[in-house]
Amino acid sequence: MSVTRAEYWDEQAPRYDRTTAFLEPRLFAPARRWIAERVTGRTLEVGVGTGATLPYYADRVADLTLTDVSGEMLRAASARAAGLGVPVTVLRADSARLPLPDASVDTVVSTFAMCCVADELAVLRELARVLRPGGRLLMADHVESSARLGRGVQRVLDAVTPERAGEHHRRRPILLLPDAGLRVLESTSSRWRLVEQLAATRV
Ligand SMILES: C[S@@+](CC[C@H](N)C(=O)[O-])C[C@H]1O[C@@H](n2cnc3c(N)ncnc32)[C@H](O)[C@@H]1O
Repeated sequence: MSVTRAEYWDEQAPRYDRTTAFLEPRLFAPARRWIAERVTGRTLEVGVGTGATLPYYADRVADLTLTDVSGEMLRAASARAAGLGVPVTVLRADSARLPLPDASVDTVVSTFAMCCVADELAVLRELARVLRPGGRLLMADHVESSARLGRGVQRVLDAVTPERAGEHHRRRPILLLPDAGLRVLESTSSRWRLVEQLAATRV
């Protein structure tokens, strides 16, 4: 686990919800709803952050495991999860190295977290490993836009943020799924493909 990366997110945790408040209802919430409608059974959420997707789960999850590299993020997510009324396990872990057995969860959720991992393919392979056969990976990310203007802005941001904050703006995890042993079941995106979400299963 990169301590520097964890420290960066620890520092972000107290202001994360304020920082994302403008984009949350406009871009993020529709993706969170889409994902929550598909969540079922034993659910693992990786890179959970402050737990912004948790309030959408209603009674769809049987039990929850929440992971993140940041202890401060996990503290905020735990507080949010407490209201859900299901058993919750919180683990500080890198998404590329999860302390969970093979094929042990029904649903894996990752929202806006692939943009900031060091090795996307390693993470996707690890998520596939813990998913039971027939289980579903549900993922949403801000990705390379389909609009030229969007891509231009993202190119400028990518000159700065990967180095400064470990944040990438032109990734598209959906394109890596086959290499991770995953198959897309459905996918959709926002206007100009600023956000893309997908459901996938193990091949
Ligand atoms: C942009 S925030 C997204 C948080 C939340 N999933 C959401 O939808 O608001 C990214 C989160 O991923 C976590 N993170 C970054 N790299 C990680 C890694 N390699 N493994 C696990 N978590 C990671 C950060 O600590 C942070 O909480």
